[in-house]
Amino acid sequence: MRKKIVAGNWKMNLGLDEAMNLASELKVKIDNQLDTGEAGVGGELPEVIFFPPYVYLSRMLDIFHNYEGVGVGAQNVHHNEHGAHTGEVSALMLRSLGANYSLVGHSERRQQFGEDDELLAAKIATALKNGIKPVYCCGEQLPERESDKHFQVVEDQLKRGLFWLDETQLKNVIIAYEPVWAIGTGRTATPDQAQEMHAHIRKLIMEKYSAEAAENMSILYGGSCNAKNAAELFAQPDVDGGLIGGASLKSDDFFRIIQSF
Ligand code: 13P
Repeated sequence: MRKKIVAGNWKMNLGLDEAMNLASELKVKIDNQLDTGEAGVGGELPEVIFFPPYVYLSRMLDIFHNYEGVGVGAQNVHHNEHGAHTGEVSALMLRSLGANYSLVGHSERRQQFGEDDELLAAKIATALKNGIKPVYCCGEQLPERESDKHFQVVEDQLKRGLFWLDETQLKNVIIAYEPVWAIGTGRTATPDQAQEMHAHIRKLIMEKYSAEAAENMSILYGGSCNAKNAAELFAQPDVDGGLIGGASLKSDDFFRIIQSF
């Protein structure tokens, strides 16, 4: 069975004290939940993954060291293992720290830093080689949806960024569908829109790989997902959880999302 996952992308937010408070509050809530055995609405406990800024990774890994069901990852990773790349962080470094995951291809990286699918494919290769599981982000912009190109846009991102992997490698990848028009706008995709795209992604994986690969792939939804709308989104058959931005910065809200399965 594929994993249910709720991931928090903190982006470039929070000072150290705020970040540590947020992490400690969530750890208490998760501890209590595990103690009482009280899971979410549907009785399921998802894996939780934190994507803090690089500078807090080590502290987060101290807090959640060997904590079953909680992963910690980076928001980005360089496509080389080492070298003269001032200001960058490699998958080898992340792994040596104990991180398990990295976001790859978040739309903010694509838009603000010009990262294209070819570069993202190289990042995925280096991440996998170093034992870091990539969370590959895809999603269309508003004009692309309005001109009915969204399925094609996501298909192209998947084919160029991901579909050169073999099936064994693909098992270590998570996909996040984040329509750009929904990110930070308060305009969430409807459950139907999310389901439709997730089903499309799963179909593409089936066609390229196998029914088993498609069935086992965790596909997360991101874009104005919050404590109010998470349950309805997560109830869709092909939505396996969420990649949460703004609502992951408040412990109560994020924990309610964790409990939304
Ligand atoms: P928001 O939840 O703030 O819309 O951000 C989503 C996102 O970009 C997560 O990676």
